[in-house]
Amino acid sequence: MADASGMSLASSDLVLRGDRVTVRPSREADVDALVAILAEPAVVRWWRTTTREDVLDELGTSLAILLGDRVIGWLLVTEETEPDYRHVAFDIALATAAQGQGYGREALAVAIRHQIGRGHHRFTIDPAADNERAIRCYAGLGFRPVGILREHERWPDGRWGDSLLMELLARELTA
Ligand SMILES: CC(C)(COP(=O)(O)OP(=O)(O)OC[C@H]1O[C@@H](n2cnc3c(N)ncnc32)[C@H](O)[C@@H]1OP(=O)(O)O)[C@@H](O)C(=O)NCCC(=O)NCCS
Repeated sequence: MADASGMSLASSDLVLRGDRVTVRPSREADVDALVAILAEPAVVRWWRTTTREDVLDELGTSLAILLGDRVIGWLLVTEETEPDYRHVAFDIALATAAQGQGYGREALAVAIRHQIGRGHHRFTIDPAADNERAIRCYAGLGFRPVGILREHERWPDGRWGDSLLMELLARELTA
């Protein structure tokens, strides 16, 4: 994750539309749905334990992913605003029933295009090194592997796991 969050989405009326999904700032009304999604075993498997307070804390820096009016996922947006290191880091989780249908790639694509429009040129994401679906999803957008972040993230079972740092330059976006 990036270490500086410069963007507040809390009061934003941003709405980003893909062919199927809509992405807009998370709201308090989304919290129950998001907490339920983040507690699903197929999500927890690849995501740290997330409490209701964690979700509330991230409302200003996260987007809800919707299919119609149903919340199907969460996209955390961490913006590094220091001018010489400007970039955006993402974290994403989709409900189990929404996985594997291209929604993750679509949501990231619209969010990245929006950030390119705001002047960003570089994006990072750091899935668990063995999260093959996530890595394939991001590679399909043009993200390239940079290297392994060893023992980067502590999992709910207490084990320190490796992550794969991936990066994308704006001109490499393929979706
Ligand atoms: C990771 C995640 C965001 C990806 O979104 P998604 O909508 O499921 O992924 P997409 O359907 O856009 O793309 C998945 C790609 O992986 C491939 N894939 C699907 N299942 C796979 C598996 N078990 N192993 C390897 N690749 C797999 C698909 O074929 C597709 O690649 P392709 O289009 O090049 O053929 C979503 O699955 C998710 O939220 N998972 C649980 C939480 C998580 O892992 N978060 C990531 C934290 S960094």
